[in-house]
Amino acid sequence: MSNISIDFLGFTLKNPLMLTEGPLSGSLELIEKASKFEIGMIFTKGIRLESTESPVPYIRKYERSLINADWSDIGFQEWLRTINSLQTDIPIVTSIAKNYLNPDTAVEMAVELVKAGSKTISFVDYDPIQLVDTVKKARPLIKAPLMVKLPPFLPNLEDVLKSLVSAGVDAIAAMDSIGPVLSIDIKTGEPIMGSKDGSAYLSGKYILPVTLKYIYEISRFVDVPVVGVGGVTDYKSAIQMIMAGATGVGMVTAPILEGFDVFNKTASGIKEYLEEKGLEKVGELRGITHRKVRERNISTNLKAEINQAKCTSCGLCEKICYSKAVIIEDEKYRIIKEKCVGCGLCASVCSFDSITFNGRII
Ligand SMILES: Cc1cc2nc3c(=O)[nH]c(=O)nc-3n(C[C@H](O)[C@H](O)[C@H](O)COP(=O)(O)O)c2cc1C
Repeated sequence: MSNISIDFLGFTLKNPLMLTEGPLSGSLELIEKASKFEIGMIFTKGIRLESTESPVPYIRKYERSLINADWSDIGFQEWLRTINSLQTDIPIVTSIAKNYLNPDTAVEMAVELVKAGSKTISFVDYDPIQLVDTVKKARPLIKAPLMVKLPPFLPNLEDVLKSLVSAGVDAIAAMDSIGPVLSIDIKTGEPIMGSKDGSAYLSGKYILPVTLKYIYEISRFVDVPVVGVGGVTDYKSAIQMIMAGATGVGMVTAPILEGFDVFNKTASGIKEYLEEKGLEKVGELRGITHRKVRERNISTNLKAEINQAKCTSCGLCEKICYSKAVIIEDEKYRIIKEKCVGCGLCASVCSFDSITFNGRII
């Protein structure tokens, strides 16, 4: 029997899936609703000193992703009451929107949140120097685990991570939505978002490859547990995140678009995957990609071949091949080896694994 529970910051979580900061964890009612699903840990929406409202509209579906300019929050005093009265067995991380606060105020808020019952604190900031400073100040005052959430594309990543670890951080989450981004309504020429200049942030399916690379790099540099968040929508993307080095896997856009049930589906997908692979624990997948990369031999100059027994003649490979290496001969798709440039694009659109390179499915 495979086991998908994980140990994280002294808690045993029923699975590695986490609802991270966003509108679905913005109030007592929503957190209590989320707690009924297969979620290992819940991060509150970013806590601000004062209650705030966002410019309308502030969340828009963007194909299979979202863009948002959501800075709404119920405010610190309401969060203290919320944490105090929360009834749930799921560990809660209170997440402080450090961006909008100086380090001393953020630390004072963290101390108050711990007194109100918070068992884990996270600081979120686009400025890594401020993050390091905040952790340094909070560490001597707070026994509870301290986390940070990093923005994407940090330069000097290794230095920032080492400074956070020596300041006493217990876990690192990455990453926040990507931005600022802009989308324009061509009927009017106006930005589609309600913020003054239309600036917003991109999250969801489109950002998965960016997050994966980031988590891979972060987990190369530090030993503290890492939470991968950004673009996870199903068990396959969650498993990729763990293989890249994550201990926990966050989601926000997927449950907004599909409902909380996406956590249940993802959790059972991970379990089935482990069972199929004969693995006992989800932790056995962690960081596999690091090992694979070390062992990897790079191949060049390989040519595609079509396995006729598997080919359904759908024709997608012919349509997409820009070097015109796929032809039809006797009603069968074939590769002209001299024309094939070995890019692999045809294999990526074949749903039947019928295209191989030197016998290897890529
Ligand atoms: C509508 C919305 C509101 C968000 N609010 C916050 C927030 O208050 N604090 C924060 O740290 N991240 C916030 N995020 C970012 C998410 O926690 C997460 O890092 C990001 O969306 C990437 O994950 P995803 O692709 O699963 O959505 C928000 C995201 C969305 C979509």
